[in-house]
Amino acid sequence: MPLARRKVRVLCVTMMLNVFICVLVGVSWSLGRDRSGRHKVRIPFKRFWRKQEQSRTFWNREQQRLDFLHNPVISGGESLAKLPDWLNDTGPLDPCEPDYRVPTQVSDYSKLPQRFQDFLLHMRCRTYPMLINQPHVCDEKPFLLLAVKSLIPHFDRRQAIRETWGRAGVVANRTVVTVFLLGSTLPLDHFPDLLGMLGHEAELHKDLLQWDYRDTFYNLTLKEVLFLEWFSQSCPQARFVLKGDDDVFVNTLRIIELLEGLSDSRAKDLFIGDVISDAGPHRNQKLKYFVPESVFVGRYPPYAGGGGYLYSGEVALRLHNASRQVVLYPIDDVYTGMCLKKLGLAPERHSGFRTFDIEEKFRDKPCVYRSLLLVHSRGPQDMLAIWPWVVQPELDCQ
Ligand SMILES: *[C@@H]1O[C@H](CO)[C@@H](O)[C@H](O)[C@H]1NC(C)=O
Ligand SMILES: *[C@@H]1O[C@H](CO)[C@@H](O)[C@H](O)[C@H]1NC(C)=O
Ligand SMILES: *[C@@H]1O[C@H](CO)[C@@H](O)[C@H](O)[C@H]1NC(C)=O
Ligand SMILES: *[C@@H]1O[C@H](CO)[C@@H](O)[C@H](O)[C@H]1NC(C)=O
Repeated sequence: MPLARRKVRVLCVTMMLNVFICVLVGVSWSLGRDRSGRHKVRIPFKRFWRKQEQSRTFWNREQQRLDFLHNPVISGGESLAKLPDWLNDTGPLDPCEPDYRVPTQVSDYSKLPQRFQDFLLHMRCRTYPMLINQPHVCDEKPFLLLAVKSLIPHFDRRQAIRETWGRAGVVANRTVVTVFLLGSTLPLDHFPDLLGMLGHEAELHKDLLQWDYRDTFYNLTLKEVLFLEWFSQSCPQARFVLKGDDDVFVNTLRIIELLEGLSDSRAKDLFIGDVISDAGPHRNQKLKYFVPESVFVGRYPPYAGGGGYLYSGEVALRLHNASRQVVLYPIDDVYTGMCLKKLGLAPERHSGFRTFDIEEKFRDKPCVYRSLLLVHSRGPQDMLAIWPWVVQPELDCQ
């Protein structure tokens, strides 16, 4: 067992570190006495901690405020330190009012793309009413909840998922529940009115969750936060969650197999996917992932690509908690990485998650899909073609 070996190694390293620290303490103890053996008391004559400096960028500054408010040392008890003025400027009382501090506080606000301005004006609001809910969808206490990010017009993608990897019910003797996560469309975005059809779909399949916010790329973080909120209230007993896009193919059988093989302690902190490390913001306005320098500086924590990742229900509940302490960031998977970091967790890489697809020459090889967990991107017709390859017992893949 490589895990056991790793444990032994960690133990050895810890013991050696302990010995090393003992030696260090011993040496410094003897150094800290004068000739007669008395203690020399050293009093630092300068401040030895760094003063919190006001960040120049909008997101970082908002995060400094949240960190301050949630710091139990500073803000606990009655001795509540008075906030420095720059941290006490919280904007409108109602966080769902547009935040008109933004145009004055973001230096290049007027030059930013409209979609980023929209994000900034509304990023403090996290509560939106639910338009379609399925409060009883988890009554059966699912082993695996499949939460699929979709958009209203994607009827065909959702149907293909229902007919293939997202078929709810009992799969491999485990209860699987599927929900699709949707926002709204606004008349100003010139969408045709699909609400009648959506209502019909919800009635027919009882697997849609819809919230009343504008479903755009920078609002995907909102989708994440609202989902975690819903999960804590309506599905907290699900053992595992797979959250993914509606253009990924998931090998549900392999996922269940992997989950069944986990020890309890591994299962508890589980968060796996296609991990991206040492990334940072894109500064080109034309890119989908653009984030300006006036809003965020810094590197991203390791995060799992938003095409799809797998985590335990327990981690979902903790993420929901942590998300209150992290300012909404316009890139949803990076945001989830930030929340994980708050929890002291890091996403784990698994080579079965292929959010950047597999080599072209393997894409039509049935047996390849047997060993994959998730692959991006596949359309509805691909899904219907691939699924039988995964479930057919007669396909010989030796
Ligand atoms: C924030 O500012 C308001 C008004 O300026 C003041 O009443 C309040 O005590 C301040 N809050 C903190 C925590 O410093
Ligand atoms: C199916 O699952 C149930 C409980 O989850 C278990 O008791 C039963 O043995 C399983 N059956 C098979 C064939 O694995
Ligand atoms: C996100 O949704 C809210 C509520 O509909 C909207 O006001 C805001 O403009 C949206 N943000 C983006 C970036 O689309
Ligand atoms: C969420 O936070 C509250 C208070 O901070 C804590 O009591 C609770 O145990 C936390 N829940 C989880 C699942 O971590």
